[in-house]
Amino acid sequence: MTIRVAGIGTALPEKIVTNDELAKTIDTNDQWIRDRSGIGQRHVGGVTSELATEAGIRAIKNAGLTPDDIGLLIVCTTTPDQQLPATSAVVQRDIGLTCGAFDINAVCAGFIYSYVMAYGQMLMPGGPERVLVIGSESLSRIVDWTDRGTAILFGDGAGAAVMERHEQGEMLAYDLGSNGELQEILYADHGGYIKMEGREVFKRAVRAVSGSVEIALKKAGMTADDIDVVIPHQANIRIIEAVSQRTGLSMEKTHNVIEFTGNTSSATIPLTLAEAERNGALQPGQIVLMTGFGAGMAWGTAVVRW
Ligand code: UT7
Repeated sequence: MTIRVAGIGTALPEKIVTNDELAKTIDTNDQWIRDRSGIGQRHVGGVTSELATEAGIRAIKNAGLTPDDIGLLIVCTTTPDQQLPATSAVVQRDIGLTCGAFDINAVCAGFIYSYVMAYGQMLMPGGPERVLVIGSESLSRIVDWTDRGTAILFGDGAGAAVMERHEQGEMLAYDLGSNGELQEILYADHGGYIKMEGREVFKRAVRAVSGSVEIALKKAGMTADDIDVVIPHQANIRIIEAVSQRTGLSMEKTHNVIEFTGNTSSATIPLTLAEAERNGALQPGQIVLMTGFGAGMAWGTAVVRW
């Protein structure tokens, strides 16, 4: 039994904040932000559960299904609506699902962790036929808009994927990792703002992602040349380029949305999958590598036959 992605959906708040707009209130400029991160604008606004609901409904529709077809909901987010209940409870109600639902928080690696968990659930005896996985964030609520080290990077948005049992498509290998010793380089306290040692996160991210990609490729019995489509977490275009240099993953095969969305944490990978789908890159049989990393630090890579 194998599993494929049957449908993808996205949601971005209407309001766009450009680099020039940010430069009116903090000491920065469009050129610096583009050169150092690849970001040109970010979407800002919305509530995590609302963005998740919108993306989830679109993914179900895109798969040609109805809410009744979904057997499990996983919402990954690091910006839940409330302390409790889980954001997935709100999304479950608002989409009109009747299945089980839970949240995962692995910050920017959340979608990879959720994808792997969903896959595992579907392989369990009596497991669901279909799982809806949604990455959704309203990071603008926890960004200190006076801190130029973080305000330039983050944005809001959601992306969703319906996974289903099917003879087409399978996961070939995955790698999940974390190093809790590195918490202090990127964190936000309850009620506080994101605090980040940018340079340190950058360095660690390149190392962690490159290592994770190499482990996953080795497990799959593949090399970087076998990968047709690369879907990296969208944190900084220079991190993506550095990983490409280290691992041999082709930048030509790498899809990015960072210029238009900034870093939307657990939503970046499904948002980038949607972009790859729009470009016609996600064809049956293609080998797709998805990789993410973030606070924790936590990271993960999945190699998938589409
Ligand atoms: O999802 C995972 C979460 N986060 C990340 O992956 C972020 C990882 N880190 C980064 O993306 C980068 O470290 C940043 C984009 C945050 C910063 O880029 P950088 O190339 O590491 O810059 P830097 O902190 O080394 O600063 C270089 C210079 C400094 O000036 P001096 O000391 O050379 O005179 C900074 O003061 O740039 C200055 N600077 C800025 N200038 C204009 C720092 N931030 C800004 C800014 N605008 N926003």
